[in-house]
Amino acid sequence: MVSAQELLGILADGKYHSGTDLGHELGVSRAAVWKVIQKIEKELGLTVFAVKGKGYRLQQPLELLDKNKILEKLNEKTAKQLSNIEIFFEIESTNQYLNNKSLDGAPGGLIVIAEQQSKGIGRRGRGWVSPFGCNLYLSLLWRFPYGAAQLGCLSLYIAVAIVRTLHKVGIKDAGVKWPNDIYWKNKKLAGILLEMRGELSGPSAVVMGIGLNINMPSSNTETKNIDQAWIDVQTILGRAVDRNEFTAKVINELFDVLNEIPDAQNKLLEEWKDMDILKGQNIEVTFSNKTIIGEALGINKDGALLLRHNDKDIICHSGDVSIRRDESND
Ligand code: BTN
Repeated sequence: MVSAQELLGILADGKYHSGTDLGHELGVSRAAVWKVIQKIEKELGLTVFAVKGKGYRLQQPLELLDKNKILEKLNEKTAKQLSNIEIFFEIESTNQYLNNKSLDGAPGGLIVIAEQQSKGIGRRGRGWVSPFGCNLYLSLLWRFPYGAAQLGCLSLYIAVAIVRTLHKVGIKDAGVKWPNDIYWKNKKLAGILLEMRGELSGPSAVVMGIGLNINMPSSNTETKNIDQAWIDVQTILGRAVDRNEFTAKVINELFDVLNEIPDAQNKLLEEWKDMDILKGQNIEVTFSNKTIIGEALGINKDGALLLRHNDKDIICHSGDVSIRRDESND
């Protein structure tokens, strides 16, 4: 039986391929090709045009993730620190997979990327909608000699790496909603999920998961499950983005920031402050079923959110933040 992955390897060019040619190339019958085409439409949510006398073609050409293309674009320092990149056609969650690998003793610098996640995990018990072949679902395992106490701002630094990438590809007004949601004009562009294990005083292993919308097709039925305003890189830039090249850029920036942590935590926090989209806005912070409304004042030296509420300054170490509707400009 031929797999969807093998068939997509041929159809990815977006051109017509006859059932007979596909069957020959893959060593199966035309009926078997047809079965896999149905699977591609049903399970991967892709549209395949079938035209008599011409054959099958994908509605849009597809750029599948390619380890060699990503490796080619990594800078020298990153390539040296990378232990491996594993690419999955489909996985439940790259974070969950890497957490298990970490427990089995996998080395730091290991990256896992997937074309699709069936149970993508978001922050605060939410899921992460992860349709096939269009976005970035990436997890990186990093081992630190220190523990959670010294890594309190890590998720903010990772957000800096993602926003740096976006600025470099031309999305100058991408910013961060505390602590680490990546936004563009009040629409979510990327999310970060950090999972840390180890002793409080160190060492520790951190799995950093990044979900970044590159080319999310609004026609994909899965997008109906997203409960907040969202946007993707291609829509903002108004042009196609090379997913492998973009992935390499994200990896380079992640490694750069991780290398800066030992000497430049203050600098990274200052950089985060320049990316802060909440400062000065009227916001709501919800934690343990309680909601406080106030003005966002920025962050303190521990990366906690400062909120002015009834002339009192409140320090929020956790919470779900949203910009008050009447104040937002979307
Ligand atoms: C958020 O809720 O904002 C964080 C979303 C993080 C999603 C990414 S996608 C890659 C990695 N694997 C997961 O299951 N989750 C993270």
